[in-house]
Amino acid sequence: MINENQENLWYKDAIFYEVPVRSFYDSNGDGIGDFPGIMQKLEYIKSLGVDCIWLMPFYDSPLRDDGYDIRDYYSILPEYGTIRDFDNFITEAHRLGLRVIADLVLNHVSDQNKWFQEARTDRTNRKRDWFVWSDTPDKYEGVRIIFIDTERSNWTLDPQTGQYYWHRFFSHQPDLNYDNPEVREEMKNVIRFWLNRGLDGFRCDAVPYLFEREGTSCENLPETHEYFREIRRMIDAEFPNKILLAEANQWPDDAKKYFGNEDEFQMNFNFPLMPRIFISLVKEDSFPIENIISKTIPVPDKCSWGLFLRNHDELTLEMVTDEERDIMYQEYAKVPKMRLNLGIRRRLAPLVDNDRYVLEFLHALIMSLPGSPIMYYGDEINMGDNIYLGDRNGVRTPMQWSYDRNAGFSRVDPEQLFAPVIINSNYHYEVNNVESMSRLPTSFLNWLRKLIITRKKSAAIFGRGTIEFIHADQKEILAFLRYYEGETILCVYNLARKPSYVTMDLRKYSGWHVREMLSLSRFPDIGDLPYFFTLQRNSFFWMSLEKPDPQ
Ligand code: GLC
Ligand code: CA
Repeated sequence: MINENQENLWYKDAIFYEVPVRSFYDSNGDGIGDFPGIMQKLEYIKSLGVDCIWLMPFYDSPLRDDGYDIRDYYSILPEYGTIRDFDNFITEAHRLGLRVIADLVLNHVSDQNKWFQEARTDRTNRKRDWFVWSDTPDKYEGVRIIFIDTERSNWTLDPQTGQYYWHRFFSHQPDLNYDNPEVREEMKNVIRFWLNRGLDGFRCDAVPYLFEREGTSCENLPETHEYFREIRRMIDAEFPNKILLAEANQWPDDAKKYFGNEDEFQMNFNFPLMPRIFISLVKEDSFPIENIISKTIPVPDKCSWGLFLRNHDELTLEMVTDEERDIMYQEYAKVPKMRLNLGIRRRLAPLVDNDRYVLEFLHALIMSLPGSPIMYYGDEINMGDNIYLGDRNGVRTPMQWSYDRNAGFSRVDPEQLFAPVIINSNYHYEVNNVESMSRLPTSFLNWLRKLIITRKKSAAIFGRGTIEFIHADQKEILAFLRYYEGETILCVYNLARKPSYVTMDLRKYSGWHVREMLSLSRFPDIGDLPYFFTLQRNSFFWMSLEKPDPQ
């Protein structure tokens, strides 16, 4: 039974699916995905078993950062469709029981945004103070540069007015000045505008950087937290049950603070965990995962980590030690073109050499740790990437629907596509596509659907339950119990590239039944002797522990 409180906490049990409108499905034959296109594919998204779609930016934009450079916050990029198309899409998603959140870019705008265009006309313009200006590029010295491959400074000279403007990302993305009350109000209006059109919340882009203060790193400042509390109060009052998901790529202590006291973000990407999953795999050692989970829990009751393996950006390695970064580059970025800034611009399947064992293992892991899994479009069909496309475009290529022309994404001539489809022989769309993989009972796609169905049956335990690690003698074994309201699941993972085994003291469950959750097979009951598992390389068990009926 779902009570009202549980319904309001839907995001704690949910699985999310990230989609760029541009890459999903082209309905009108111009080579570019659009809203009517993604609307036609909602049944497919539903068939995966996911609960909520996260749309990447679809607002009017010159697309110099794939839409994270917004020209007009109140309109839709014409090639994606009209506002009507957006409304229809939301209505249809809701009819199917899917929720939709969208990117909200607060920190910066496109330099083509009319606010910036006005602000740069002269120093006395009434929009001048909407941005952050300085006579010299020395202010806020020492603040790190994020896009180190393209930017040399966080300041760029505006030749027209002879002052520098502040930007944490590309120089064509001036930062808004959140010390200005008009800016704070305007962004609340943007939020109202889109929530009124039916969105269920936002994935908030680049949250740590809203305010600047001399002598600080200009990240995670108290003023930034205070503004998000202000936004949250406004949303709770005017649009109850909408959610905010933070992109705060920070060290664990700083990242956790974005949950606030249940008065900031309901959700927050677990950036600290993500790279450490891969490090655990390379080292065949459970410590990095166990250690980082211990550092990121507990979270406040009404909050949830977003658990992800990959997304539309490079696999970020900003918040790891130099040693950890070296391990990652050595294993996962053997070719220089695979790197971007402090990260690796590859998709999941190619990262792990398309190893089916590892792909299943990784998905099972993010579906069973505390939090809400967030998948990236195409990873369910083990899509390949194209490192010869610039920036992060190699992981944003057209979705592969079938083995038809253009992978069934669009009917245009192939040279007209916004980006080429993947034809590398190991990841060719003729094999890795939704239609073929749906038809093949043993495909990864069908396996993943089954995993998701299995997780959904116990969503509350996985999403809300506590975690207790079980220490094994073998460092390659990661084992933990998940509990919620009297129910218990045991998860056991073998991180090694070779088979392994583990014995566990489960005496406190003596007499309990053990059932493998994907197949429902019964294993021997737990007794007083150590409980024994053997595991194939990179494999796992999810076991429900069932209390015997009292005789
Ligand atoms: C976020 C987005 C990324 C974008 C950047 C600047 O990190 O995920 O894609 O380039 O913000 O907007
Ligand atoms: Ca189109």
